[in-house]
Amino acid sequence: MKAKVLITRLNDGKIHSGQSLATEFGVSRTAIWKIVRRALKEGFNIRTVRGHGYQLASPVDFLDQETIVKNVESASSRPLALSVVDEIDSTNAEVMRLLARGECATPVVTAETQTAGRGRRGQPWCSPAGENIYLSMGLSLSGGFSAVDGLSLVLGVAVAEALECLGAAPVGLKWPNDIFIDGAKVGGILVELQGELQDGVVHAIVGLGLNVHMTTAPAIEQVWTSLALARPQLTWSRNALVSTLITSIADASDKFQSVGFTGFRSSWQSRDVFFSRQIIARDGELQGIGQGIDHSGNYVLRTNEGNVAVRSGEISLRFAS
Ligand code: BTN
Repeated sequence: MKAKVLITRLNDGKIHSGQSLATEFGVSRTAIWKIVRRALKEGFNIRTVRGHGYQLASPVDFLDQETIVKNVESASSRPLALSVVDEIDSTNAEVMRLLARGECATPVVTAETQTAGRGRRGQPWCSPAGENIYLSMGLSLSGGFSAVDGLSLVLGVAVAEALECLGAAPVGLKWPNDIFIDGAKVGGILVELQGELQDGVVHAIVGLGLNVHMTTAPAIEQVWTSLALARPQLTWSRNALVSTLITSIADASDKFQSVGFTGFRSSWQSRDVFFSRQIIARDGELQGIGQGIDHSGNYVLRTNEGNVAVRSGEISLRFAS
């Protein structure tokens, strides 16, 4: 029996005894206990209420393929090759495999959990089950590899605008494409490239990790938040979020192909969390005041020697402490 079946049963928020669950599912109490342990390991937040049974700390809104496809198709009449999976190593890796098999041109994969979620700079991406969004899309871009730096900034704008439409405003961007709310990271974007360059067409695999219901994550070292923590007055539905994000990312990618980065620059600048702040680049070699991005998407620092532009992928920026 899968942990998801148990979680679905516990989703009523009530306490269920091990015995009643065992009877209902026709298994032993030990089997139930093992499934609870597995579910805890996957990141589901189940409380053991001593002498009474098991209870979910908060309801889990499972991802539902039909709902997402219906929402996306009604928003944009765009046909969607979507896979919703319970567990995967990495949704980016899965999109790469799908592209390599050539089964569909624009695969979209979202998962309840990732066992090897990857972040930028080779960092792991914390991916507890049922709590957050792990979403990857395969996009085809013309314009060669140089188009991709701009794309990664554009995606940040697309995600920030989608979240603001759903009530999360104000949403900030930390160059190149971390999503920030109230000074803490709520999401990140990883863009990976695949395939030969044929007629200037590049396959970009764009992966978004967005913290939605997560309230604890001891393994994350940087300052982070989730939509539920930062905007607790709203009810966050992962299905609604995934649908809106897919539409927003696909629309932004289309617009980027026709008007380029210029069409997004002012929206990016207005969300820049580094603007006017003292920041450090190149591992401390460079220090200056954040000035925003130039027309190519490089980040500009005002230093004692004048303005210096740093390129995406070249370095990471951080606040001077
Ligand atoms: C970052 O380091 O800020 C980027 C994080 C990107 C994580 C997402 S989760 C979905 C997709 N699959 C992955 O393995 N990584 C990206």
